[in-house]
Amino acid sequence: MVVPGLATQAGGALAIFTGAKSRSFTSIAASLNFSRNAIVGAPCDVIYPSTMPTNDGTHEKTLAALGVTSAEQISVLFAGLREQFDAEVSLEAVQLLWKEFRDRWIGRKSGVITQVTNNWLKPAPPGLKPTVGAELNKLKSHVESKLDEIHLKIENAEEEWARDERVDLSLPGVVRPIGSRHLIRQVLQEIEDIFVSIGFSVVEGPEIETPYYNFEALNIPEFHPVRADMDTFYLELPKGAPGPLLLRTHTSPVQIRTMEKRQPPVRVIVPGKVYRRDNPDATHSFMFHQIEGLAVDSDITFCDFTGTIEYFVKQYFGPSVKTRFRPSYFPFTEPSVEFDVSCIFCGGSGSGASGTTCGKCKGSGWIELFGAGMVDPAIYGFVNYDASKVSGFAFGMGMDRLAMLKYGIDDIQVFFQNDVRFLKQFP
Ligand code: PHE
Repeated sequence: MVVPGLATQAGGALAIFTGAKSRSFTSIAASLNFSRNAIVGAPCDVIYPSTMPTNDGTHEKTLAALGVTSAEQISVLFAGLREQFDAEVSLEAVQLLWKEFRDRWIGRKSGVITQVTNNWLKPAPPGLKPTVGAELNKLKSHVESKLDEIHLKIENAEEEWARDERVDLSLPGVVRPIGSRHLIRQVLQEIEDIFVSIGFSVVEGPEIETPYYNFEALNIPEFHPVRADMDTFYLELPKGAPGPLLLRTHTSPVQIRTMEKRQPPVRVIVPGKVYRRDNPDATHSFMFHQIEGLAVDSDITFCDFTGTIEYFVKQYFGPSVKTRFRPSYFPFTEPSVEFDVSCIFCGGSGSGASGTTCGKCKGSGWIELFGAGMVDPAIYGFVNYDASKVSGFAFGMGMDRLAMLKYGIDDIQVFFQNDVRFLKQFP
């Protein structure tokens, strides 16, 4: 409610309503016979939203202090309070602060109604008392009935909410299936177990590498043709950053990192992700998994090498599987070989079930498995090992390929598609 002059006298915050409200503001002023000059002192630029509690303070003063002497002025005062109440009261505006709002108007101790009773009614001169009393009763019943109405609405809304939110205890619980290890993880575990059982330990290395570890220290200098085969992902680095860096194309850099840190004897396997710019198809993926192996000691021979590989292959695929190796080339092994296993699908015969050619080994009876070789003595130079005193072997196996062969999977992409129908087959 706004009663200019009165509000400034009271020194309280003044609410200026716009639109329809400002009309009644003027009419209240007019009926109170205040001149326009009296309004000038009011802080007209303060505008409160109509839902914000206003406090013009009139009910905190006695009628005498407010200079109110006639029944007409009393009616205007009460009309103002009623208008203020009506402007503030709405379901949306009060339901969250219901108790505060109710107490502000009808709270026993200091609600507006109590204050009007104490400040306006009780000390009113006998002549005005009946008018104040009648106006107060009208205001009180207006406020109370409106508050009752709103309170009922709030209760209904709460009940409705409670009904909607009620927990139905008869509903079945939510089943949260527990996942299982990915097949690649399971195969890694199998491979690790085999190598750990013969004295290897497991180490890991970074997936982002420097060209030094990925190439140079592995005897692949900058313009070596083999680099061209490794369609490599180089990282785009901010200007001025030390570089270049790349996603490792194989796990072999961890050979170097391990030998830099450890003295012989070294026997490690290195599982991890590797990256190459391969287009995805049934046998290629730009990211796949390798397991590197490295054994270096004072007198490791080619026989130790082939014996270890054969032991692993028989443990992994079964005792009936045969192995063979063919000459190959890697810059960091000398001699280098390619290991094959007898075809797991046709038992090495090369023919399928009804006498047809086996599709997996294309009739050869052999399946290419992985690259390996004796560590090239040049490598020892990069890690400060004495090449005249140590020897060793290394291998790099594709884990995805090993998993596909053992579990009869013909598309490498299924490992990366996260289709639970596939994953569930390997609980
Ligand atoms: N790093 C080689 C590759 O990814 C594999 C390999 C590892 C060959 C160790 C020999 C010795 O192709």
